[in-house]
Amino acid sequence: MDPATAPWWTRATAYQIYPRSFADSDGDGIGDIPGIVSKLDYLERLGVGFVWLSPVYASPMCDNGYDIADYRAIAAEFGTMEDMDRLIAEARARGIGIVMDLVVNHTSSEHEWFRSATGGPDAPYRNYYVWRDPAPDGGPPNDLESSFGGPAWSLDPGGSGQYYLHLFDPGQPDLNWHNPRMRADIHATMNWWLDRGIAGFRMDVIDLIGKEVDEGVTANGPHLHAHIREMMAATAQGRDIVTVGEAWSATPENALLYCGRDRDALSMVFQFAHVTRFWDDAHGKWEPHPIELTGLKAVFDRWQAALSDDGWNSLFWSNHDLPRAVSTYGDAREWRVRSAKMLATVLHLMKGTPYIYQGEELGMTNAGFDDISQYRDVETLNQHRLMRAADMSEAEFLAGARRSSRDNARTPMQWTDGPEAGFTTGTPWIGVNPNHATINAAAQEDDPDSVLAYYRHLVRLRREHDIVVFGSYTPIAPDHPNVFVYRRDLEGRALVVVANWTAEEVAFDPPGGMEAEGRCLVGNVAPRTRIDGTVTLAPYEAFAILYEPD
Ligand code: GLC
Repeated sequence: MDPATAPWWTRATAYQIYPRSFADSDGDGIGDIPGIVSKLDYLERLGVGFVWLSPVYASPMCDNGYDIADYRAIAAEFGTMEDMDRLIAEARARGIGIVMDLVVNHTSSEHEWFRSATGGPDAPYRNYYVWRDPAPDGGPPNDLESSFGGPAWSLDPGGSGQYYLHLFDPGQPDLNWHNPRMRADIHATMNWWLDRGIAGFRMDVIDLIGKEVDEGVTANGPHLHAHIREMMAATAQGRDIVTVGEAWSATPENALLYCGRDRDALSMVFQFAHVTRFWDDAHGKWEPHPIELTGLKAVFDRWQAALSDDGWNSLFWSNHDLPRAVSTYGDAREWRVRSAKMLATVLHLMKGTPYIYQGEELGMTNAGFDDISQYRDVETLNQHRLMRAADMSEAEFLAGARRSSRDNARTPMQWTDGPEAGFTTGTPWIGVNPNHATINAAAQEDDPDSVLAYYRHLVRLRREHDIVVFGSYTPIAPDHPNVFVYRRDLEGRALVVVANWTAEEVAFDPPGGMEAEGRCLVGNVAPRTRIDGTVTLAPYEAFAILYEPD
């Protein structure tokens, strides 16, 4: 990527807002758009370039808005279209773009299209969804499973006897991407939003829209990239937007199909190889394996290499579907602050666009729930039912959920040490983490040693140093089990990033050629300007040194 012509989003850091849990302005216990507007100064101070806003559209909320009933209306609990327009305008005035979540693999079963599609083959909009006759025994047409557990097929509520496809909850029927009329309606909706001034789209499970269900193919289907390119041709022409494709199935081999420069496709791919690497073959995220650093580094190294000259990476530790970063990769107790900063250092100085998930910049931790009644997430509750029926004990399930449930990331944003963490004056829809007494934005706001201050600094480094944005990436000591080290190079300058991934002191012998004195750009223990000879790193220590020619 040529710095002179690179798009704006290459220098930007993204911030993800899960509206339900961000800030509640009216005391109903649910975060809302006016609440977000009231926190824009906070985001401006953090320095982020765009906000990925999880869905705020009209929805029965069976999956907290990832089940959309009307693409052109705002859910009453989140506010009004006027609030939305105000958010777009006020964010823009602070140099922040609003990126909407585009959930078009499926709609809600309460979308008007689906309501008119039920009942029989001649129903209007029938062909907007995926219908199949039952198997000879009357059961589902095939054995495709929903990501939330159980069959991916449910009977037509209109009584036709056919089944409809839902790769997620039965309340999320899959759209039929073979239908050009449906596709044109989606494109029109995208243009409608872009004309309102949003900065782009994050595209939910976009790798599923090319599915061929009769062949059992869901991800990465044969027409996937044709659909993406058609969509971009119909919406992105002449607009300077950012488009981010969520693709659990993306590989280093096919990533450029999503975001290669000459593809007229997406800005970047949002893939999960570093996450799924530690999932269990049989039980997935519910029984994760311990994080092992050389394996983790190998994933990042591969992806950095795959998109080194073309394409663009999304960089993230957490989002609304994943447990909290510091609880998963760091030490949420003794070394919480330092390990949160270490994780941020490693991620934010790589090549790609970093994503901060709300609260990560405070070092927020997992929810710590110990009873199933505290959980709200449809996936967690489904899995609980299924795994209990399959003989898993309650204690075992709860242990898995404490580590992996999506609700770990969905407890309210911790603004203050006051009642309900300053998130709401009412009763929050999901429990607030009691550790807001010590972990909260107010306490960190003016503290130069806070996790928040550290994140602000990293965001600024990306804006100020081309080498952070465009420098090439080379792993150093990839086989070292305890340190994460890499360098970036751009036009004779070098940036070396060193991190101790453990709670112990670790000795690291840098390779030759690093004897020079450099400039410390960031560090979570004490500034370091040299790494010649053996370096003894403090627990979770991380730093970055910039070397510039005289
Ligand atoms: C994506 C979303 C997730 C949602 C699913 C179905 O993975 O991030 O929250 O449940 O798609 O829309």
